[in-house]
Amino acid sequence: MTTKLVCLLVVVVFAAAATVGAGELKVGYYEKTCKDVEKVVNSIVVDSVKGNRGKGAGLVRLLFHDCFVRGCDASVLLEKSEVNRRPEKDSGANIGIRGMDVIDAIKAALEERCPNTVSCADIIAYAARDAARYLSRGGVDFAVPAGRLAGVVSRSRDADTYLPDAASNLTDLVRNFRRKNFTVEELVILSGAHSIGVTHCTSFSGRLTAPASQINPGYRSLLVSKCGGVSPTPSSNPTVVNNVRDEDAAAVARSLPAFVPRLRKAKDYMDNSYYHNNLAKAVTFHADWALLTGKEARGHVVEYAKNGTLWNLDFADALVKLSKLPMPAGSKGEIRAKCSAVNYHH
Ligand code: HEM
Ligand SMILES: *[C@@H]1O[C@H](CO)[C@@H](O)[C@H](O)[C@H]1NC(C)=O
Ligand SMILES: *[C@@H]1O[C@H](CO)[C@@H](O)[C@H](O)[C@H]1NC(C)=O
Ligand SMILES: *[C@@H]1O[C@H](CO)[C@@H](O)[C@H](O)[C@H]1NC(C)=O
Repeated sequence: MTTKLVCLLVVVVFAAAATVGAGELKVGYYEKTCKDVEKVVNSIVVDSVKGNRGKGAGLVRLLFHDCFVRGCDASVLLEKSEVNRRPEKDSGANIGIRGMDVIDAIKAALEERCPNTVSCADIIAYAARDAARYLSRGGVDFAVPAGRLAGVVSRSRDADTYLPDAASNLTDLVRNFRRKNFTVEELVILSGAHSIGVTHCTSFSGRLTAPASQINPGYRSLLVSKCGGVSPTPSSNPTVVNNVRDEDAAAVARSLPAFVPRLRKAKDYMDNSYYHNNLAKAVTFHADWALLTGKEARGHVVEYAKNGTLWNLDFADALVKLSKLPMPAGSKGEIRAKCSAVNYHH
């Protein structure tokens, strides 16, 4: 009984000491405890993204998928284990999730420099900012408040519940973002992240047969040819680029000749081209097109198509807000030794 009581007390004390509110996050949090942490993160991110720009897209998406599920607590990074057979990663909503190797490399470098100090949740936030800054050629930049802890809970069904589905209509999207205190405008702003990266054909299969009122028929043909037909399956599931302007020139010339002049010489740059593509009905997801179906959301699509500088600034602000989503009240947090596993507590 005494042992039980002591255990209980230890748990309570831990939970109290380790519960962090969003209000306590602060820029320069590691100034005294891990000097130059942001320089270390940035240099690893830049090296990785130079080698493979897709990893930058992966890092930006990682922040969204981490923070929308149990707050920004690195729960998305946890691997399946004996005690947790279905972590968030297993959810269909996390299809194609990548960039974890970059996070692991950063963590290893930081453990060498300042052991047991920098949380995996803060690493995700720094790395996403650095990737966004690099891929936008400096257009998207912001100071990252830090001091998050990594959580110990990661459930596939939470990711199913909280991450938006690519087939969603506007009503569902607005509700999904509202639940996390994000406005319609912020939904539109954050969706602009789809100017970079790739998607699996199964993530937009409905679009392959959608009517011309919802998708540019030339773009639809292009997607059908890239996907090898209108019924991709998990076993035959290629990826296509999210941004039609990064598509291969020959395919665009065949299916969507009007877009040839809009092809980008330098691929995978983060900018407001998503909004132009959207107005031309040449975006991958039903959820992207759905932004045109409501007066307010559509107005913001037009606004950000017109002003790329405004999007850069507003996207930066929305990422900061995203990065402040807290863990559920009373959650236990820790500095993990490795980002893919919780620490061993006994
Ligand atoms: C609005 C609701 C959203 C939906 C329905 C959605 C859905 C998706 C889906 C299905 C994919 C492709 C996954 C695959 O098949 O491999 C994807 C990719 C991506 N999403 Fe979203 N997303 C949304 C919002 C966001 C937000 C808010 C961000 C970041 C701020 C984001 C960033 C990305 C990025 C960067 C990629 C490409 C990832 C890569 O290439 O590795 N998305 N999204
Ligand atoms: C949006 O989709 C949901 C199902 O996800 C459906 O119940 C609802 O009726 C749809 N709303 C509109 C306006 O189409
Ligand atoms: C949204 O805001 C409300 C009211 O300020 C707050 O109680 C709630 O915890 C917030 N939700 C999230 C996910 O941050
Ligand atoms: C675009 O937005 C920026 C930032 O708000 C503003 O300074 C600029 O005047 C806008 N440009 C146009 C053409 O409206």
